[in-house]
Amino acid sequence: MIGNLTKNIFAFGVICLLASCSKTTEKTVIQYMPHMANTPILKAQRGYDGLGNGASVMMPPENAIARNHKPYRIESPEEADRVLKNPLAYTESNLERGRKIYNIYCMVCHGDRGHGDGPVVNPFPIPKSLQSEDMLRWGDGHLFHVITKGQGVMPAYAQQVQPEDRWAVILYVRALQRADHPTQDDVRELKKKITN
Ligand code: HEC
Repeated sequence: MIGNLTKNIFAFGVICLLASCSKTTEKTVIQYMPHMANTPILKAQRGYDGLGNGASVMMPPENAIARNHKPYRIESPEEADRVLKNPLAYTESNLERGRKIYNIYCMVCHGDRGHGDGPVVNPFPIPKSLQSEDMLRWGDGHLFHVITKGQGVMPAYAQQVQPEDRWAVILYVRALQRADHPTQDDVRELKKKITN
């Protein structure tokens, strides 16, 4: 009996010794500051008493501005036309960038040439042509304002199209207009290219 007990105690001791040498025991992590690791987790959409109003997320303070965000305070397309200037040059790479953005965000309604015949119009409302006399007359700031704030049934594209990309899209719209309304110089250049 006693012999058996001694054997069992001995076996238990060996197991403990082996267990303490095993890799898993060696990897045991010591928490120096358990408060950070064991923070109570707030479940999304659940109330929380800590803020005093039952919400689990704090509202940003009034007038707070998100990092890298420039507030847009211009109120009318006319004002935009007066104070904004396209910072991008009419270069091939900027036009290419504008073409990409236009084909992703604008073409579906405005059509590939800006005639208002994109694939989703009807049932979607048919936009005015980007080749209209008004559009040819308006400055780049006016267009920037429409893209940023939307106009009538057209939603704002400020979330999807970043300011630099808006300017690139405007350059591309100008190129589309130039293709439909070439100057005599444009026609002469083109003829030269074709005959060469
Ligand atoms: C969901 C369809 C839709 C998309 C996408 C869209 N637009 Fe429009 N857009 C319209 C409609 C409709 C109007 C006419 C709005 C009105 O005056 O009620 C319009 C008007 C405009 C005007 C003013 C035209 C005028 O003569 O008054 C400009 C400029 C314009 N869009 C540019 C763009 C650009 C640039 C994009 C891409 C960033 C874009 N739109 C994306 C539907 C769209």
